[in-house]
Amino acid sequence: MAHALASRAPVPCGAVAPVIFSGIQPTGRKHLGNYIGAITQYVAGQDRGDPAIYCIVDLHATTVAYDPVELRERVHDTTAVLLAAGLDPERCILFRQGDVPEHAELCWLLTSVTALGELNRMHQFRDKSAAQRELVSAGLLLYPVLQAADVLAYRAHEVPVGEDQREHLELMRNIAERFNTRFGEGILVVPEHRIPEVGARVRDLQLPERKMSTTGGSDQGTVYLLDEPAAIRRKFKRAVTDSDDPPLLRRGDDKPGVTNLIDILAAVRGTTPASVELELAGARGYGDLKVAVGDAVVERLVPLQERFRAIRADEQALEAVLAAGAAKARATAAATLADVRAAMGVGPP
Ligand code: TRP
Repeated sequence: MAHALASRAPVPCGAVAPVIFSGIQPTGRKHLGNYIGAITQYVAGQDRGDPAIYCIVDLHATTVAYDPVELRERVHDTTAVLLAAGLDPERCILFRQGDVPEHAELCWLLTSVTALGELNRMHQFRDKSAAQRELVSAGLLLYPVLQAADVLAYRAHEVPVGEDQREHLELMRNIAERFNTRFGEGILVVPEHRIPEVGARVRDLQLPERKMSTTGGSDQGTVYLLDEPAAIRRKFKRAVTDSDDPPLLRRGDDKPGVTNLIDILAAVRGTTPASVELELAGARGYGDLKVAVGDAVVERLVPLQERFRAIRADEQALEAVLAAGAAKARATAAATLADVRAAMGVGPP
């Protein structure tokens, strides 16, 4: 892996392997939408990225009400899930944001090229601040600036995250451009958003017009990666389809529930939705589809769950993985910060 990012110019698509960066929240239980949309893409990114950098964003988690002891637990849970899903610390950089102080420092420095008006208008800030019962922290407002710092510290080219992060990605690109205009062209790289094709579409099994999500969905419609096999099969059996009679086993905008099941089956089997449709030609009804998806998801998740239990049990080993990742991350981030400080006239010459 080439870690000499500081000297490298932006990569035009396809020329040299891109630097890939993504951040993942340590909060909440990870579900099938996270798995298909983000986590499998992280795993694939290990072969494309040079390097692929994945950050568990504990600093972002402090912007809303949280419990400190629980935060550490959730970081370990998330680390173990990522490793169980196939992230390999030899082939990527996996680390905890709070281990690399350059993120917070760059966040502060970038506030000088961030418009307060832009932050105030962010939809996620508006939604989250409206939902806060107690304190609306300044951190919540600065959340997107910290996210920009995460990516820009590594001069990353590609950011694989969901559609819901579009605004944050646009802001981060504006910040990078404004920084370069103000302090020197080429110091920061303006990153590209990479939206997963399928993950963006994984829907709640009970409310298929909504995304599968820990906040906006239903518990029975959300398949958690660590759900018992029996619970997974049950959730699929009870999935909402539609009342077409005779049942139509095909995708379509008018059939969100059936489309979702076909997409999920294709994703976990690693085939295309079209070939799943062909295969279903002989099925008797929606029941067959539901059983097939439930079985395929269980088959995929059971080995992941077994690996998770083994990995999660050894917290010292988890901390060792995170520490090694942080050391690698820090070498790159420190080089960027040296350039940024110099350009901004901050600190000793
Ligand atoms: N805000 C992102 C989310 O909620 C998480 C995140 C933090 C992130 N820093 C990032 C994603 C940097 C991509 C790049 O999903």
